Amino acid sequence: MNVLILGSGGREHAMAWKIAQSNLLNKLFIAPGNAGTKEVGTNLNINQTDFEAIKKAVLEHQIKLVIVGPEDPLVKGIHDFFLNDSDLKNIPVIGPQKYAAQLEGSKEFAKEFMSRHNIPTAAYKSFTSENLDEGYAFLETLTAPYVLKADGLAAGKGVLILNDLQEAKNELTEMLANKKFGAASSKVVIEEFLTGIELSCFVLTDGKSYVTLPSAKDYKRIGEGDKGLNTGGMGAVSPVPFLTDAIMLKIETQVIKPTIDGFQKDSISYVGFVFIGLILDKGEIKVIEYNCRMGDPETEVVIPRIESDFLELLIATGNKELHTKTIEFKKESACTVMLVSGGYPQAYEKGKEIFGLNTIENSIPFHAGTTIKDDKVVTNGGRVIAITSYGTNFNEALKQSYKNIEKLCFEGMNYRKDIGFDL
Ligand code: AMP
Ligand code: GLY
Repeated sequence: MNVLILGSGGREHAMAWKIAQSNLLNKLFIAPGNAGTKEVGTNLNINQTDFEAIKKAVLEHQIKLVIVGPEDPLVKGIHDFFLNDSDLKNIPVIGPQKYAAQLEGSKEFAKEFMSRHNIPTAAYKSFTSENLDEGYAFLETLTAPYVLKADGLAAGKGVLILNDLQEAKNELTEMLANKKFGAASSKVVIEEFLTGIELSCFVLTDGKSYVTLPSAKDYKRIGEGDKGLNTGGMGAVSPVPFLTDAIMLKIETQVIKPTIDGFQKDSISYVGFVFIGLILDKGEIKVIEYNCRMGDPETEVVIPRIESDFLELLIATGNKELHTKTIEFKKESACTVMLVSGGYPQAYEKGKEIFGLNTIENSIPFHAGTTIKDDKVVTNGGRVIAITSYGTNFNEALKQSYKNIEKLCFEGMNYRKDIGFDL
């Protein structure tokens, strides 16, 4: 079977790396891909939201399965585009349709879904510029910190956590009246602040059946000790060591099952990954967010821990036959440490040559933002390479990643030396 993966990050490289190991694969294409995906498949120079160009490539290369990495093409309706096209409608797309992708694309949609299906989450209310005064009044009923969320996608910047009531009111005005995040903040969800420790859970579903993938915890802040600006993710570990069987059972019964059952009750046809962001406090769990795709860099530790043939699972998902499959995990832990460009998550330079890649031993370098220039691998993004390793526990795995990182360099290279510090 010929397969196409859409995207260009570490998540897509990890998926490509795993799918390339399947006996069911004939040819693998990645659009647009990066210098790492080029090692395991063929990169196509196509923008991931250029649906017409994707169609042309799918037909030309006789692609029979499409896996969508990032949220953007999903929220823009790539799956619907396939279903509505007579040439493409029988080619399975792994990733939900536009309506269901609102689980990530609209905070209000997600909150309403959770409240309809009794899925535990923070109490909330949503507001527009029409009822700004009610928003101020609602803030007055809460205690600090105040959580304000732009309803739509805001490049990961749409959630504000504020300690001061007046500041929260000012930000609410900025978001609703002054369109701080453009159309994404024409509606704002205000919710109760949750304390506890965050972790993520990943599910692959065909809308009726599901398999739960290994759990993971990522490290979002740029600075050590979880300080500084938010990033896409600076590292991750899997499994989450404090996630006991009892808590996992709770997540399964209180969150995962009601989510999949909710799709059926709401007649939502959901094919793809559900990323569930959770907060755990004194043994109780609440959902912070849903994403309609896998996490990055969580994928770089989740996928390497899957023993089963991942392509076989994806084919079964696309054919809505996932109930016929089970999933096996590796016993080892996995960790990943992200190497980022100097300045990230603010302005940074690209095009820096990466040295030492061929000296890496017993780790997997998943490329996140790289490209080839004059036959050299150079940086091409804020997050550059995720170094994934296995170990008998997460500490052993981390030791191996850090050992290899010492052999790598590019101008401005930065990374966190404390991944897993809180475990
Ligand atoms: P979200 O985009 O909804 O995942 O929010 C981004 C981040 O903000 C989360 O990963 C949490 O760290 C934090 N956050 C979101 N909602 C809450 C909440 N209700 N209470 C505390 N922290 C939150
Ligand atoms: N690592 C968090 C995310 O992918 O959204």
